[in-house]
Amino acid sequence: MRMYDLIMKKRNSEELSKEEIEYMIQEYTKGLIPDYQMAAFLMAVYFNKMTDKETVDLTMAMANSGDILDLSAINGIKVDKHSTGGVGDKTSLVVGPMVAALGVPVAKMSGRGLGHTGGTIDKLESFPGFSTSMSEEQFFKNVNSIKIAITGQTGNLAPADKKLYALRDVTATVDNLSLIASSIMSKKIAAGADVIVLDVKTGSGAFMKKEEDAFALAKEMVKIGDGAGRKTVAIVSDMDQPLGYAVGNALEVIEAIDTLNGKGPSELLELCVILGTYMLIGAEIATNEAQARKMLLETIENKTALNKLAEFVEAQGGDKAAVFNTDLLLRASIIEEITSSEEGYVEHIESEEIGIVSMLLGGGRETKESKIDLAVGLVLHKKVGDKVNIGDSIATIYANDAVKLATAKKRFNGTYTFSQKPIEKKLFIKGIIK
Ligand code: URA
Repeated sequence: MRMYDLIMKKRNSEELSKEEIEYMIQEYTKGLIPDYQMAAFLMAVYFNKMTDKETVDLTMAMANSGDILDLSAINGIKVDKHSTGGVGDKTSLVVGPMVAALGVPVAKMSGRGLGHTGGTIDKLESFPGFSTSMSEEQFFKNVNSIKIAITGQTGNLAPADKKLYALRDVTATVDNLSLIASSIMSKKIAAGADVIVLDVKTGSGAFMKKEEDAFALAKEMVKIGDGAGRKTVAIVSDMDQPLGYAVGNALEVIEAIDTLNGKGPSELLELCVILGTYMLIGAEIATNEAQARKMLLETIENKTALNKLAEFVEAQGGDKAAVFNTDLLLRASIIEEITSSEEGYVEHIESEEIGIVSMLLGGGRETKESKIDLAVGLVLHKKVGDKVNIGDSIATIYANDAVKLATAKKRFNGTYTFSQKPIEKKLFIKGIIK
């Protein structure tokens, strides 16, 4: 077999066999297929798509490219949660501690930022000293003792996805249904949890901009998860504006902590409650939605979720004092307000562009080797439907570099559109696929 022929087949819209997909993934993982050939293949997939059968074969080949974790050493039904990626999406930092505080074992493998979207691992590294690379034994020990551990894609879990993820990030080949489904589900299958709850985003800040594409992705992932013997549920949620107000790693950690303190944005809490509900039901800790909701909201009121976050940060080497005093997190040196030159109701926020503004400030990667600045980003002050007057502050930008700040400010222009009439809020949860 030759990679050249497989690229040509996909370029000509032909279906690849299971053996061809396995060969390609194995050889790429070993470093025997160069990035330039894989990049050409990914672009052919982007334009010509993959069939359902190819997507399942790709997922399993990627899951089998490394170890499949056996979590039987952890007591109870293990749950995992994953988002398809959005702007300002800090749900894992909130819902993970909420469900862990209720005794659900959260054994989670998370990713870094991808394209214009952020990643949980980068966000967690905002805690001084925090480490997401740990041995399998330590991972098991933490889940058993404190009910939550989040690891990066370290060790030998889905190494094919690790390489492909980094390559897609810099070759404009992220937003394809089969590539997203196989990337997420290969990791989830390899990470071994019994229950997988997926947050599939749709709208201007998501990879799947159209609702019908998001539903197709959700259905595909649920099919793959159930087929691999994992109880899988997907929530399709709105990403037509950033989630909450903060975008950027340390800034999002602060908003997550505010939410655990009962002072966060309502839609962020609502999404965490919905995701948490299916994690609790899957783990058989709650029997129905109403019971799960009540239990989850109690973890905020009685601060057990906040304390769980502190315990989790400490268990992974981070400074837990930062959970109770966010001034200890990294801070940017330049802080600037962006004021409105228009008046009206916010009609639309070009959320992908907001993610790019954060990237341009240094919060995301331009190349595979880029080091990111965890302190930078922006905090919005106006969301869809809000009334804005000329001169009102729409956002605060946090930067560490004056040149990057100037580029980011230019890019921010035009991200907001206004209407002279009041705007009706859209449905936030679009559907649930079980
Ligand atoms: N999250 C992932 O892990 N992979 C993708 O392709 C997109 C979001």
